[in-house]
Amino acid sequence: MSALEERIHGSAELVSARLEQCLRSGDPDLSELYNAMSYSALAGGKRIRPFLVMAVCDMFSGNAEEALLYATAVEIVHTYSLIHDDLPAMDNDDMRRGKPTCHKAYGEARAILAGDALLTMAFELVSGDNSVPDGHRVRALYEISKCAGGSGMIGGQEMDIALEGQHIEYETMVKIHMLKTVELIKCACRLGAIAADISDEKTLADIDCYAEGVGRVFQLVDDLLDVSSTDEKLGKTTGSDEKNKKTTYLSFMPAEIAEQLADVMTEKAVEVLKNYENSKILCDFAFFLKDRKK
Ligand code: IPE
Ligand code: IPE
Ligand code: MG
Ligand code: MG
Ligand code: MG
Repeated sequence: MSALEERIHGSAELVSARLEQCLRSGDPDLSELYNAMSYSALAGGKRIRPFLVMAVCDMFSGNAEEALLYATAVEIVHTYSLIHDDLPAMDNDDMRRGKPTCHKAYGEARAILAGDALLTMAFELVSGDNSVPDGHRVRALYEISKCAGGSGMIGGQEMDIALEGQHIEYETMVKIHMLKTVELIKCACRLGAIAADISDEKTLADIDCYAEGVGRVFQLVDDLLDVSSTDEKLGKTTGSDEKNKKTTYLSFMPAEIAEQLADVMTEKAVEVLKNYENSKILCDFAFFLKDRKK
């Protein structure tokens, strides 16, 4: 395992252990709800957002415990978004994280509720942790709510669904990606900065710039893999975009050109961080994400 892979693995283990703690319920009436939440949250996602929170915090020698709290919260929000994204009324997919989707395993009503409960849990976790300075907690809660909400991730999901099957401009597709995917990735990076007590505008802007590049490439590669990979390799339903008539990079250019674009965007994303001390791991991570096969 490379040093980077070890770091990704390490942060994933920490977050999974914390998620497991959070998702225990002693109330027998709620066991099925919590089972559905755990089913999706502990199914072994790549945990790339938690990695980003922790790696950004670490780059600035911040508080690792605080970063772990935010990493858990952001992964919980992400998991909720996947459960709802897969619902019959949304992308209507059958497989996620190597298993049947939450609604396939637990039924639609419980999958909706499991998503709702996960989203809310993220706010409970962050607001309820008294070991974190109040100023940081308020900043973190603001970032999570803004990035996940109607002008962020959900806004992107709205456009993604509303514009299915329609001819849209390239810029509109980029906007959808910026909202549905980049916002939460940006949120993860900003949460890492909060845990490191970074409030200087220039540094925050550089972190945003990195997150934007990495996030855009992340969705571009997601779209490519939807066409080129298999359900088994990816652990989720492939061919979903074509089935749902989504506009993707492949609607505008062949895969080779999209790959070249991913190279250029990744180079640009790391360019801003290169000058910072200890930024190697985040720079390597950007290339790792671009070249990922799942
Ligand atoms: C999938 O995210 C949804 C997108 C924003 C493209 P991931 O590819 O990070 O999913 P998991 O967490 O590894 O399952
Ligand atoms: C999902 O985009 C973005 C979310 C906010 C969940 P996709 O619909 O392309 O994600 P996958 O391919 O189902 O993981
Ligand atoms: Mg979708
Ligand atoms: Mg989907
Ligand atoms: Mg996809």
